[in-house]
Amino acid sequence: MPADGRGAGVRAAAAQVVDDVLRKGRSLDDALAGREGGIDERDRGLLRLLCYGTLRFYWRLSAQVAAYLKRAPAGRDAVIASLLAVGVYQLTDTRIGAHAAVSLTVEAARLLGRPRLAGLVNAVLRGFLRDGMPPPQSGDPDLTYNHPDWLIERLRRDWPDHWEGILEANNRQAPMWLRVNRRRESAADYLRRLAAARGKTPEETGEFQAGLDQAIRLAEPWPVEELPGFRDGTVSVQDAAAQVAAPWLLTDGGCRILDACAAPGGKTAHLAELAPAGASIVALDSNAERAAAITENLARMRLDATVRVGDASKPQDWWDSKPFDRILVDAPCSATGVIRRHPDIKHLRRDGDIAALAALQKAILDALWPLLAPGGRLLYVTCSVLRQENEAVIGAFRAGRPEVRESPALPNNNIRALMERSSAGYQLLPGQAAMDGFYFACMEKDT
Ligand SMILES: C[S@@+](CC[C@H](N)C(=O)[O-])C[C@H]1O[C@@H](n2cnc3c(N)ncnc32)[C@H](O)[C@@H]1O
Repeated sequence: MPADGRGAGVRAAAAQVVDDVLRKGRSLDDALAGREGGIDERDRGLLRLLCYGTLRFYWRLSAQVAAYLKRAPAGRDAVIASLLAVGVYQLTDTRIGAHAAVSLTVEAARLLGRPRLAGLVNAVLRGFLRDGMPPPQSGDPDLTYNHPDWLIERLRRDWPDHWEGILEANNRQAPMWLRVNRRRESAADYLRRLAAARGKTPEETGEFQAGLDQAIRLAEPWPVEELPGFRDGTVSVQDAAAQVAAPWLLTDGGCRILDACAAPGGKTAHLAELAPAGASIVALDSNAERAAAITENLARMRLDATVRVGDASKPQDWWDSKPFDRILVDAPCSATGVIRRHPDIKHLRRDGDIAALAALQKAILDALWPLLAPGGRLLYVTCSVLRQENEAVIGAFRAGRPEVRESPALPNNNIRALMERSSAGYQLLPGQAAMDGFYFACMEKDT
């Protein structure tokens, strides 16, 4: 437990980050990057725990707080509503001692420049403890599942047999997955190297997933920079579900490869690790800052691709007229399959965003299909679990295009067994074998 000044500072920063997401609409990554600088490195893990947990369970936490308030602090004082949720989260979901949690959270109200609300924070948290930390009175679905109503409804409609499992998986912390560059080391050898560095057995350190021969799931997270082989690119951090894409697209090789929505380059690097000698890869992204991250990542990993900034739906601006024989479209999407890693998505995404995303996904597919050589293969991927962005987009794209057919290339058997087959494509649901939720549709162009 950090000394008092630091401990209160972490609670104050957590309240600001939560407030940045909830009221200013900033992503959790951006908000953390903006606030972390003022926090001692030793306390950053705690800051993250408080921010992720509070955003993950915000619906329940704010209802628990509301039971002790006539009116929630609002306007200039709204950050105190976030602080109260951070306070209750510590009491209900962490092992932090109640006395320290309350006193440091009260002190945080002063650090946030709201000394006159410190008494209110104290009264709410002490009242909550005194009453035995009661759960919220109402059994409304948003409080039960800690998701917005619109998303619960969509999941219920899209996945009548799985929606509750998806919601529960979204509220669990995701494990850390690694991908080992198999040209440099086998996953089994790397696991032994990692275990030796940790002074543990391979089993205690992690396990590698049968069927994905490059994937290792760590038993507990490990600071990235301290991973043996991270600096030279022998190993990368990537969820196992994301590792399904490159080997699937490159079954039977490929010469000219386009990664159309590539930043920050996780799948580009995987493609580069697996591509046959002599193959070329173009990695495209419309966001220049994010595209720069592809270049950086490839340089660290000593891998090659041509990085371009451009809009995938406007190839006339960047295409050199030479057809591609493999195209990966890892489309911009709602990211509803990766909520366990990004709980801010539950707060930032709106129901109305989905139709706009589906229109963009379809526009990208329409624009890229002519760039695919006859006999070529295109893999469409999203980290969404919503049918409107997945089979509905593929269904609309395929309508009136008789030359599109489902590819005979399939994900490997072990992974396929975990996937839900849909009318067009395959869906991995979040939490399935501890993986993220991803959708895949693999198509080929008739010659
Ligand atoms: C799901 S992310 C890609 C993740 C990446 N493939 C990886 O594995 O690291 C989607 C990317 O699409 C990019 N994007 C959004 N609209 C685009 C467009 N019209 N053309 C090209 N890229 C686009 C975003 O900037 C974002 O980097």
